[in-house]
Amino acid sequence: MTSRSCLTVILAAGEGTRMKSELPKVLHMIAGLPIVAHVAKAVTGAGGSDIALVVGKGAEKVEAAVRTIAPHVSVHEQTERLGTAHAALAARDAIARGYDDVLVVFGDTPLIETAALAQARARLADGADVVVMGFRPAVPNGYGRLIEKDGRLVAIREEKDASAEEKQIGLCNGGLMALRGKSALSLLDRITNNNANGEYYLTDVVEIANAGGQNVVAIEISPDNVIGINTRAELAEAEAIWQNRKRRDMMMAGVTMHAPETVFFSHDTLVESDAILEPNIVFGPGVTVARGAVIHAFCYFEGAKIGANANVGPFARLRPGADLAEKSKVGNFVEVKNAVVGIGAKVNHLTYIGDATIGAAANIGAGAITCNYDGYNKHLTEIGANVFVGSNTSLVAPVKIGDNAYVASGSVITANVPADALAFGRARQEIKEGRAIELRARYAAAKLAKKAD
Ligand code: UD1
Ligand code: MG
Repeated sequence: MTSRSCLTVILAAGEGTRMKSELPKVLHMIAGLPIVAHVAKAVTGAGGSDIALVVGKGAEKVEAAVRTIAPHVSVHEQTERLGTAHAALAARDAIARGYDDVLVVFGDTPLIETAALAQARARLADGADVVVMGFRPAVPNGYGRLIEKDGRLVAIREEKDASAEEKQIGLCNGGLMALRGKSALSLLDRITNNNANGEYYLTDVVEIANAGGQNVVAIEISPDNVIGINTRAELAEAEAIWQNRKRRDMMMAGVTMHAPETVFFSHDTLVESDAILEPNIVFGPGVTVARGAVIHAFCYFEGAKIGANANVGPFARLRPGADLAEKSKVGNFVEVKNAVVGIGAKVNHLTYIGDATIGAAANIGAGAITCNYDGYNKHLTEIGANVFVGSNTSLVAPVKIGDNAYVASGSVITANVPADALAFGRARQEIKEGRAIELRARYAAAKLAKKAD
């Protein structure tokens, strides 16, 4: 990567009224990460981690979202919304610090990719003063057209001002720009609001720079990169594009997916190679899957760690703190929360494991439940290595089951079980020989008596 210094100005002062939401537009989520944080992530990848954030409504929350990605972000309030150039100038102090490159990006374009930003910076490094990020939409209507001459960008013509010939141009303005840091402020300062909308347009930079004999160029990036989110419908479309990119990346990195279109990732999901993901799996935030693990269909995970060659599902739910060791097995209708399932341990059917540790090679029978909550506090269940817990057992925490112990099915375990012991925690079964014959005879006699009445 280049050693040139870079400031990114993220414009996020828009109100986003079309979202019809209490939440600022840029805080709506894609893959569990706010829109504006996606932008911050992409610019950070392109070396633009010095971020100047221009905000309006909901400033603190927007700042916090960016801070998770770029801890040193500076925040600049745009009190009046007078256009994109006016917004960029709200970050005057930051731009004045002096950078080689200044990127101006929109806070509502979550699909912008590091590669596109890096490409714009590369053109600055090659001597351009202004780089405009262009794209070819399927239908160019409504976008500013990029007018080029001899490899230079001479103007951005808005749709309403364009001639019939200019309207034939397919290359449009994506809105994002890269400016040579030394001249950025003087260019922005020369922009006026002398237009139909009375707004300060960032796009005017192109003509001003040309008039000053500067080198202005356009690059072409894929249309996905500049999709802006204005409505919930566009949010869903962007989510779909993000998911498709992630699925593709996963498969390229060696993850098998039988029906990739049915698997949904979080922004931070990590899956190692040779893992197999069957259809219909939802990853919430904070999940890692190690190599060779097999995830069967219909699972829901969040905050969970799945070890190498583990086998999970179908229909498993892993909640925060679930930590499945290598070769462990968590089967159908099992919920695991804040619990370690040891190496090779099995929790195969219809079980709740919460606030627990399960030792290596232990076997937890169908319907076993850790009773971790007494209505006020959570308590720990510690199950040793090689323990066998019979079906339909309640383990009332806090409780410990020692290594190699055996718990009879149907037990309610309220006291610790020593290692190697057998715990039998239920009423003993009674047998009354012949009593069933006696019972049937009595019922049959009663029935006859009733008929005779
Ligand atoms: C802009 C471009 C247009 C381009 C289009 C691509 C300008 C003048 N026009 O238009 O050529 O084709 O993007 O989508 O740049 N913002 C502020 N404060 C303001 C105004 C805007 O922070 O005063 C922020 C918005 O929150 C948003 C971004 O700037 O994130 C872009 O503003 P928007 O109003 O969407 O610009 P467009 O009209 O779409
Ligand atoms: Mg827009």
